[in-house]
Amino acid sequence: MSSTGVSAPPQCLLKPLDFPHKTLMGPGPSNCPPRILAACALPMLGHLHPEFIKIMDEVKEGLQYAFQTQNTWTFVISGTGHGAMEAACVNLLEPGEVALVCQNGIWGQRFADMVDRNGSVAEKLIRPMGQVFNLSEIEEGLKKYNPAILFITHGESSGATAQPLEGLGDLCHRYNCLLLVDSVAALGGVPMYMDKWGIDVLYSGSQKVLSSPPGTSPIAFSPQAREKVLNRKTKVRSYYFDAGELANYWGCDENPRRYHHTAPVSSIYALREGLARLVEMGLEASWKNNRECAEQLWTGVEKLGLELWVPNKEERNPCVTAVKVPEGVNWKDVADYAMKNYRVEISGGLGQLAGKVWRIGIMGYNATPDNIRLVLRALGEALENVRK
Ligand SMILES: Cc1ncc(COP(=O)(O)O)c(C=O)c1O
Repeated sequence: MSSTGVSAPPQCLLKPLDFPHKTLMGPGPSNCPPRILAACALPMLGHLHPEFIKIMDEVKEGLQYAFQTQNTWTFVISGTGHGAMEAACVNLLEPGEVALVCQNGIWGQRFADMVDRNGSVAEKLIRPMGQVFNLSEIEEGLKKYNPAILFITHGESSGATAQPLEGLGDLCHRYNCLLLVDSVAALGGVPMYMDKWGIDVLYSGSQKVLSSPPGTSPIAFSPQAREKVLNRKTKVRSYYFDAGELANYWGCDENPRRYHHTAPVSSIYALREGLARLVEMGLEASWKNNRECAEQLWTGVEKLGLELWVPNKEERNPCVTAVKVPEGVNWKDVADYAMKNYRVEISGGLGQLAGKVWRIGIMGYNATPDNIRLVLRALGEALENVRK
């Protein structure tokens, strides 16, 4: 303690930043390319300066392309994927309204929790992790519960499935229900056509295929979803996530932009560059590259004598693969070996799959044949060593 009563400075902060370089092959975040890291290091601009507003407008155009939508309410939540999930929940649902939540992993569980916290009602359609939903069971749920919205996860990162979405929007609309899709762990790596598939609200995250730092989450609302938000009987319970306010701040309505909050300026530069990468590569090429890397991984994993959690290839999420941990092997020993010897991240399971699977992510900048070879070598060698 000094004579002024100030406590001693922490010694750890007087040392240089101790930083390990790692290849992040888990379910996110993925590594950021140098171009995106360089964007983060650019000087600050005022968040209402015209030069920054131009960058925001470029981000909106990039998102409309990534989502394949013409929706004018397409903008970014300042927060991670959970922020967009929470924003979708609090804007779309009034207290007492019903959401039908498809649960085949932890994301449906989380969304149901948010619905409950909002004073709304979460009815559930449940499938084991590793399985996807079909239209007829969803139709039964729509008839039974008459929900205001249906929540479904496009790329499940806990159960490692890719949910087919074609036909779902039309089905929901026949029952006067809006369709909400979580594509945090799929956008850019798996085909997505927001408008063609009749999705009413779609959100994603910056740190997966977009290869930008965590902290921003894109979201878009269809005209029907926008009308529902604008015609609410009750105020949106969150000021920060109020979509009407955010749409104005992002220049998505006719009124002059009002200050709502200070956008995370550097993170928006980074997202702009993440979207620029996607635009330069082209969506189809990005989807194809992700698929090819996933096929390479699946073949390699099976060659190692391991089994994939999702048996049907067409139902697997090419962005996150779950591999069964064989009998007698501790998942963590393998993950630790890969990290210690190769500085490669292989993750464990989430929720009910904790301890039962490894999860390997293939996203954006990390989706390369070399990285797949690296993760397979680390996994194979780790297994040999932990079994000795
Ligand atoms: C499918 C899915 N939804 C939502 C999220 C939440 O995103 P965040 O961790 O950025 O809040 C994740 C994160 O992994 C995810 O995979």
